[in-house]
Amino acid sequence: MTAFSQTSPLREDKRTYKRLQINHRRNKEQDHTELLDAASARFDYAACRDVPWNPEPFSLLWGTPFWDQASAAERVKLNQLYWVAYYADIISAEIATIYFNQTSAAALFGLEDFRLVCDTLDLESSQERAHINAFKTVGEAVEAELFGERVFTYEMRGPFAETVIFTDTNRVREKAKRMLLRTFGVLSAQNAFIGCQYFLIRGLRTLLGKIVQHQLSGFHQELVRDGAPDDLDAISPIPSQISYFHFQDESYHFNSSTIISHDVLKSLPTPSRFERWVMNETVKGAQKDLRPFTVVGDGLNWHGPRTYEVVHKVLTSKVFGLSSAEALAFMRKTYCEENEGLHRAHQTHVTAIDSYRKYLDDVDYLTAHNRDMTLAADIDIPRVLAANQKAFAAFEARA
Ligand SMILES: [Fe+2]
Ligand SMILES: [Fe+2]
Repeated sequence: MTAFSQTSPLREDKRTYKRLQINHRRNKEQDHTELLDAASARFDYAACRDVPWNPEPFSLLWGTPFWDQASAAERVKLNQLYWVAYYADIISAEIATIYFNQTSAAALFGLEDFRLVCDTLDLESSQERAHINAFKTVGEAVEAELFGERVFTYEMRGPFAETVIFTDTNRVREKAKRMLLRTFGVLSAQNAFIGCQYFLIRGLRTLLGKIVQHQLSGFHQELVRDGAPDDLDAISPIPSQISYFHFQDESYHFNSSTIISHDVLKSLPTPSRFERWVMNETVKGAQKDLRPFTVVGDGLNWHGPRTYEVVHKVLTSKVFGLSSAEALAFMRKTYCEENEGLHRAHQTHVTAIDSYRKYLDDVDYLTAHNRDMTLAADIDIPRVLAANQKAFAAFEARA
């Protein structure tokens, strides 16, 4: 059967095999699972509620009119809420990752010498579960304390939900997406090329995360620059430690995405027309997810209008204490006019597009449209503002 044919056993590509071994060995040696579990177990909001957890620009609504007039204490809250919101988004992506790591491993194990790749993926999936637990523990505790209800977090869910939590969708599109994800699950479990190229999608989707998480983890590094003290928690808030530990694990995940999708690929036969079509459609889908950027927070692929409700809820909560009319006035200026926050988010989007293009540059079965990320790049500040403006009047009338 063609799906399980192989041009040569993986071990014969000595260079790639060696790189896989090194990456797996180092990840196993430096595995941050225990540190993350211990940090989550120690998390106590009261102990770090008055300090920021991220570099300042990684705050909710940073550089917007609301930010400009916010008190120092309110800015700290916006900073912490960015952490909660950002990692709530990461949780849904990681739930899906666990599933597709497993389906892809199922197909790849049908080839010679793929035990190492599968063991790598097993370790990564188990690390993702620790990551999710850490993000969830902090996010839920903060929301319970600040709002008494969920705002950005959600109950545990399966891998077929939208992986971007505030995406431009509706019931019909959500259903279609569910079906696509299920179909991709089936295909990637049976077809080695598709299983292998799932890691192209995984790598691509990690690039923006790398840009953001590198900076989030740098916050902790900066705090412990003079050496880690005995009482680490007094120097670096636990959520900042979690950002750092998470980023360490993820750097190995990114390496394996790259090695599998770019180098292991060479041990597989040239893809059929069907296989190329499936992957091109999948990259196109990823482009759609990576297209939006938002003033709500730097590095979030969120669709502005989908966040109106949640931002309104945050601003009118007891934490910020605005009336509904006050919140709407700030929101109108934030979403419908240019400001520093929007420009920063746009700049990060431009940087990310550049890194997507570099990542896909040598993947020759992709169409030019996909290699160039045409769809994801096809957005700018005026269009984000226009979409926000169009939806804002309707929201205001409802609020
Ligand atoms: Fe993770
Ligand atoms: Fe990961």
